[in-house]
Amino acid sequence: MEKTRLVVLLCFFIVVIVQGVELGPNVVEKWFDKLPHAKQKVTKFHFYFHDIVSGKNPSAITIAQSNMTTKSPTFFGSVAMIDDPLTVGPEPNSTIVGRAQGIYGSADQNEAALLMTYNIVFTTGKYNGSTLSVLGRNPVFNQYREMPIVGGSGVFRLAQGIATAKTYWFNLTSGDAVVEYNVMVLHYSH
Ligand SMILES: *[C@@H]1O[C@H](CO)[C@@H](O)[C@H](O)[C@H]1NC(C)=O
Ligand SMILES: *[C@@H]1O[C@H](CO)[C@@H](O)[C@H](O)[C@H]1NC(C)=O
Ligand SMILES: *[C@@H]1O[C@H](CO)[C@@H](O)[C@H](O)[C@H]1NC(C)=O
Ligand SMILES: *[C@@H]1O[C@H](CO)[C@@H](O)[C@H](O)[C@H]1NC(C)=O
Repeated sequence: MEKTRLVVLLCFFIVVIVQGVELGPNVVEKWFDKLPHAKQKVTKFHFYFHDIVSGKNPSAITIAQSNMTTKSPTFFGSVAMIDDPLTVGPEPNSTIVGRAQGIYGSADQNEAALLMTYNIVFTTGKYNGSTLSVLGRNPVFNQYREMPIVGGSGVFRLAQGIATAKTYWFNLTSGDAVVEYNVMVLHYSH
């Protein structure tokens, strides 16, 4: 009995450490209690976003469209769900540091511009399990697109920031794209 409890406890601590940040309502409450003494800090990220719409294993799939979408020059109304890998370098086999999970949709009838709503989910290191939420406008053919980071979880509780996207590679035929991201996040450290 005691041995089982010890094993359960050990497993609990291992899980907490592996996830990179402690979770649970009490942890969050303590975090808020300490907020008046927390320091704000800025963290920078650089990664490549692989939006693969073609082939056998797409990471972005169209889930809805209107009956007028195909008649629209901007595919207005087309909506996709994504689980895109985020990598250190632009190559398809580059090391994955996280994923972009969410939805984007064509939200402009005249210009190719998407409404992006997705979470950056970190999967390695001290940020493992922490997320950043992106909500912004993405005029995909502009050189730079700025999208707000509207919040976060884990290490990034109450975070705010800016993601700047720049297309690194785009195949007009297949629709596959690799997008370079620079992210600046203002968040708290206790
Ligand atoms: C990240 O956390 C998950 C559990 O949330 C764990 O399974 C995984 O091994 C961790 N990855 C790394 C690289 O620490
Ligand atoms: C599109 O769908 C709407 C609502 O179902 C319908 O009223 C309209 O006639 C349809 N338009 C076309 C071009 O099919
Ligand atoms: C990635 O693929 C390229 C060829 O496309 C190869 O030269 C390189 O060694 C690969 N890197 C890794 C880490 O597998
Ligand atoms: C672009 O996509 C098309 C269609 O999938 C493919 O045939 C072509 O090889 C791709 N071009 C490059 C440069 O990857």
